[in-house]
Amino acid sequence: AELQIPEHIQETQNITREELEMILHTQNPLVTEELRRRAQQTAKAIYGNKIYVRGLIEFTNYCKNNCYYCGIRCSNTDADRYRLSLEQILSCCETGWNLGFRTFVLQGGEDPHFTDEHICQIVRTIKEIYPDCAVTLSIGEKSEESYQAYFNAGADRYLLRHETADEDHYKKLHPEQMSLVFRKNCLKNLKKIGYQTGCGFMVGSPGQTVDTLYRDLLFIKELKPEMIGIGPFIPHKDTPFAKESPGTLEQTLRLLSIIRLIHPHALLPATTALGTIDPKGREKGILAGANVVMPNLSPVNVRDKYTLYDNKICTGDEAAECKACMAARMKSIGYEVVTDRGDYKA
Ligand code: 5AD
Ligand code: FES
Repeated sequence: AELQIPEHIQETQNITREELEMILHTQNPLVTEELRRRAQQTAKAIYGNKIYVRGLIEFTNYCKNNCYYCGIRCSNTDADRYRLSLEQILSCCETGWNLGFRTFVLQGGEDPHFTDEHICQIVRTIKEIYPDCAVTLSIGEKSEESYQAYFNAGADRYLLRHETADEDHYKKLHPEQMSLVFRKNCLKNLKKIGYQTGCGFMVGSPGQTVDTLYRDLLFIKELKPEMIGIGPFIPHKDTPFAKESPGTLEQTLRLLSIIRLIHPHALLPATTALGTIDPKGREKGILAGANVVMPNLSPVNVRDKYTLYDNKICTGDEAAECKACMAARMKSIGYEVVTDRGDYKA
């Protein structure tokens, strides 16, 4: 008989490389079901059947970087570029606020057009109008001074996926101007400043192995992030990885569960990418231990331009439709979307 999920993973919140390999490779459905059940139970013990929602505002798809996996990489001349004005961003927030969103995630490429002053002005204005909301930034690698300035302007959280904690793998995913050391340092600075900080990675990115994943888990252990964003890699047709295979639903779910068991308190989204590779992907993600969903608040006329990967869902849906759709999806599996900032529960 195959090894069962070792009890000590839950108790010590530690996993060995061999256990990780066993869990990722097992063909035994009893083992994967046991993993899922335990991860779900762990999430419920801390967050109940409450699902936190984040309103995602994709405010620029200009990017100076050239990551091999990403559809808005600077050398993709086929990307139709846009930027939202402050007024447009505020209008997204107003819509979102009225729908019950209490967290706004401002996400964009690394766009030099938006100076620190611009970002601070955006954050300050949102917090003035909606003092009870949380603002999350997801705008890439910046200096410690910039991160501090955004924090002082009122930003509460910051998402910066580390993408992989393995040096060689990092080089396979990014051109040489980018470095894992620099990225890890950004995350360290974000934590130090006091942000609720999110790191994360794609599942099934080209070159990923059990060993690189094990390094991801070790890095997460060391960083102690409040949020961990993981979703499947999905190829984008205009990138060097166009012909690579996507990450699978099954591996993404197993990793969500493992992460829930070893980081019980983490805010863990069931991502749009997960919903893209499977029509019930987000529901399955929640049932595997995730506790956050991030419906899109971006204006519908720019939705299909923010394409990091092919076949992204929800590009034609108004915010209200996404919110209602998400509430119904969560209800269908016995969960409830709540109007709450949804802060980390230590
Ligand atoms: N497939 C899945 N996720 C992607 N991201 C970027 N490109 C892709 C892709 N092709 C993820 C990265 C990034 C986040 C904003 O989106 O992990 O950090
Ligand atoms: Fe966007 Fe279902 S979540 S339409």
